[in-house]
Amino acid sequence: MAIERERDISPERKPDDVVEVSLRPRRLEEYIGQDRVRANLEILLEAARARSEALDHVLFYGPPGLGKTTLSFIIANEMGVTLRTTSGPAIERAGDLAAILTNLGPHDVLFIDEVHRLRSDVEEVLYSAMEDFALDIVVGKGPSARSIRLNLPPFSVVGATTRPAMLTAPLRDRFGAVYRLDFYDLPAMVQIVVRGAAVLGVEIARPGAVAIASRSRGTPRVALRLLRRVRDFAEVRAEGVIDASVAAQALEMLDIDPLGLDELDRRVLEALILKFGGGPVGLDTIAASLAEEAGTVEDVVEPYLLQLGFIERTPRGRLATRRAYEHLGVPYEEPAAAPELPDQRPLF
Ligand code: ADE
Repeated sequence: MAIERERDISPERKPDDVVEVSLRPRRLEEYIGQDRVRANLEILLEAARARSEALDHVLFYGPPGLGKTTLSFIIANEMGVTLRTTSGPAIERAGDLAAILTNLGPHDVLFIDEVHRLRSDVEEVLYSAMEDFALDIVVGKGPSARSIRLNLPPFSVVGATTRPAMLTAPLRDRFGAVYRLDFYDLPAMVQIVVRGAAVLGVEIARPGAVAIASRSRGTPRVALRLLRRVRDFAEVRAEGVIDASVAAQALEMLDIDPLGLDELDRRVLEALILKFGGGPVGLDTIAASLAEEAGTVEDVVEPYLLQLGFIERTPRGRLATRRAYEHLGVPYEEPAAAPELPDQRPLF
């Protein structure tokens, strides 16, 4: 199904992805971190509301799990409109997009996740819809074919992408507000864990929250996932309270290292260092050696390793830094200096 209407989901329902929805803040003032984005959004929202207009189209980009979807929920909620969610790959034909667009109400928000993965014919339809709130539809075939223009109510697209460089320029240009989401700092992560615990109804001591937050790679989605696992541990093995010791034991069992690197992160680093001598080595080679998708390594693993200064992207491929070696406990050797180019003097 290409589209899904946002529903209220009762917090009693258990599965993680459902709880995830109820853990999301619904108001901008409840949203923690990303201060610059929040301040800009506040103005954007207030101005649109004051003019009784649809919000300008908004693009969020950045690594996964940092709040792109959450912010789209908040935007729709703050505007008091319906949120419709879909994703680039889910829209298979231009007709699917036309069906979605013709069902939008005035000022509704259409959230398109992975917007860089829209097919080009779908994207073409989106251009005029975003720019003129109109759909040009060809009816009939051959000589009798004609184009009719369907007017749409003013609406807002909120696009999200982990790969802004893969957006075509015409699509990028149609977003009036473009915001980059960054990894969260530790104080913000601690607040998010404390808030998440309150929503889940689990008691947490501050050192427990700090332990979870500091191993969550600056990513709320990771923090909330760890929080739920630590809560399970606390309920089964302790008195249901997450203190520093319970958090440490649970995180140890989950095999999350002190910097928050998980198994896949470590496999990437180990491949880079142990199989490829620290690099430089191409992304595709690393991914193939681990039987992982290059896109997963690039979008999910690398941003945090880059942020930690564990890897560098060079024109010749990925390079492990001294810090990465130290983290894995592998002795570091300075890379051999690049060989001198032979003298290019003519022989005669
Ligand atoms: N839950 C997930 N991300 C959050 C954020 N940035 N602020 C508050 N709660 C959150």
